[in-house]
Amino acid sequence: MNLHKLSLDTIPPILTPFRFFLSALLFGVLAALLLLYSREDFWFTRWSNSNLALTHLLTIGFMLMVMMGALYQFIPVMNGQLIPGSKKLAPVIHVLMILGVLALVSGFLFSNSELFQAALAALGTASGLFALSLLPLLISRLGNQLIVYLLRVLFLVLLITLGLGLFLLLGHALPELNLPYRFYTDLHVLWGLAGWVVLIIMAVSSQVTPMFYVISEFSPRYLKILSLLIILTLVVMSFYTVFISKQSGTDSAQPFIYYTLAFLLSAELLVFVFYTLLKIAQRKRKIADVTINFYRLSMFSLLAALMLWWVAVFLPLAHLTYLLAILLIYGLAISIINGMLHKIVSFLIFLHLQKLSLKRPEAMTLVPNMKQVISTRNSQIQFMLHLLSGSLLLISVHYPALTVLAAVFMLANFCWLSWCLFQAYLLYLESRKKILACPEISMSL
Ligand code: HEM
Repeated sequence: MNLHKLSLDTIPPILTPFRFFLSALLFGVLAALLLLYSREDFWFTRWSNSNLALTHLLTIGFMLMVMMGALYQFIPVMNGQLIPGSKKLAPVIHVLMILGVLALVSGFLFSNSELFQAALAALGTASGLFALSLLPLLISRLGNQLIVYLLRVLFLVLLITLGLGLFLLLGHALPELNLPYRFYTDLHVLWGLAGWVVLIIMAVSSQVTPMFYVISEFSPRYLKILSLLIILTLVVMSFYTVFISKQSGTDSAQPFIYYTLAFLLSAELLVFVFYTLLKIAQRKRKIADVTINFYRLSMFSLLAALMLWWVAVFLPLAHLTYLLAILLIYGLAISIINGMLHKIVSFLIFLHLQKLSLKRPEAMTLVPNMKQVISTRNSQIQFMLHLLSGSLLLISVHYPALTVLAAVFMLANFCWLSWCLFQAYLLYLESRKKILACPEISMSL
C-alpha cells in the first residue's frame, strides 16, 4: 500500500468519521424497509411520497453522510491540517443531519409541511455549518495538489446540489409561496448525480484507489481538465434550462442545443469511464481483491446509464427514468461507497491501532492486519449481495412482482455491511483495550 503521501500525524479521532459511517448504515436499512413496505406501488409514479423518501434516505442519509465522514477523515490525512473546529462541529452537524433526513423523509411520507419546515431548518443549518467549516481550509493557500483542486470543485458542486435541494424543500415547506420548484428538480438531480457523484468518484480515484489497489496515478492534468469540462457543461445546461423556462415555459424548444449539451456531457463521462477501466486493467498488483469489483461495477453502471440516457432522450418512458436512477444511485454511487467502506474502515482501524502501539513494543503483535478487520470472505459476500440486489431492483422495474425480493436482498446488503463495520469497530475497541494494557516505553533519554 502506498502511504508515502499521507500525513499520518494528523489523524482525527476514530469516532469523527465512524459516527457518520455507522449512522449512514441505518439509513440504508431504512431505505430497504421502505421499499419492502411499499412493494409494487413503489414504481407507480416518480413523484410518489415513498419514491422521494427512499431517494433521500439513500442520497443524503447514506451517500452524503458517508462522504461527510470520509472528508473529515481524509482532508487532514491528505493535507496535514485538521479541519478547523471539526472536533466540536462534527458531532453537531452529524445530529442535525440525522434529524434533517428523518424530518425530510417523514415529510415526504406524510405530506406534512411542518415536517418539511423542520427538515429545512436542520438540513439548512447542517449544510451551512459543514460549508463554513471547510471554507477556510479550501480558500487558504494549500499548495497545488490535485486533491485540493478536486475538493474545491467537489465543494462547489455539492453546494449547488444542496442549494437547489433546499430551494425545492422550501417549495414543499411553504406551499403558500407558490414557488415553481418542480421546474428545478431535474437540475438538482443533474448536479447531484452527474456532478457531485461523478466528482466524488474522481476524487476517490485520484487518491484512495492508487493507494489501496496500487493503480498507477491518474494524470492530474486529465482529471483537472475533465472535471472542469463537466462543470462547465452543467453550468451551460443549467443556464439553458432556466433561459428556456423564462422564454417559452417548455423544454421542447431548441432541442438541438439540448442534445448537443447532453452529447458533450455524456462524451465527458464516457472518457472518464474508459480511462478509469483502463487504469484498473493496468494495475500493477494483480492479486485478486474483491473490493475492486465494486469499483468496476460502479463504472459499468455509469456506462449502462449513459447508454440508457440516450434511449430515454428519444423514448421518454417512465420505466427508463427508474432504471437510470437505480443505475446512478445504487450502481454508480452506492457500489463504490460499499467497496470503499470495506477498505477505508479496515485501513483506519489498522492505522489507529498501529499508531497506539508505537510506544508499546509488546503490543505490535496485537494490531490486526486489514484482512483480519474485514475478511476477504465477508467482502465477497457483500459484493454478491450488492450485485444481486442491484440486478433485482433493475428487473423489478419491469416485473413489479419481484420488488419484495429486491427489497429483501437490499435489506440483506445493508445489514451485511452494518455487520461487517460493527464487528470491525468492536474488534478495534477490543484490540485498543489490550494494547493500552501493555507497558509504554519512555521516549526520553
Ligand atoms: C440538503 C439536501 C437535499 C434536499 C433538501 C433535497 C430536497 C429535494 C426535494 C424537496 C425534492 C423533491 C422535488 C420535487 O418535489 O419536485 C428532491 C428531489 C430529488 N433529489 Fe434531492 N435534496 C437534497 C439532496 C440531494 C442529493 C445530494 C441528491 C443526489 C445526489 C438528491 C437527489 C434527488 C433526486 C434524484 C430527486 C428526484 C427524485 C425523483 O424524481 O423521483 N437530492 N430533492
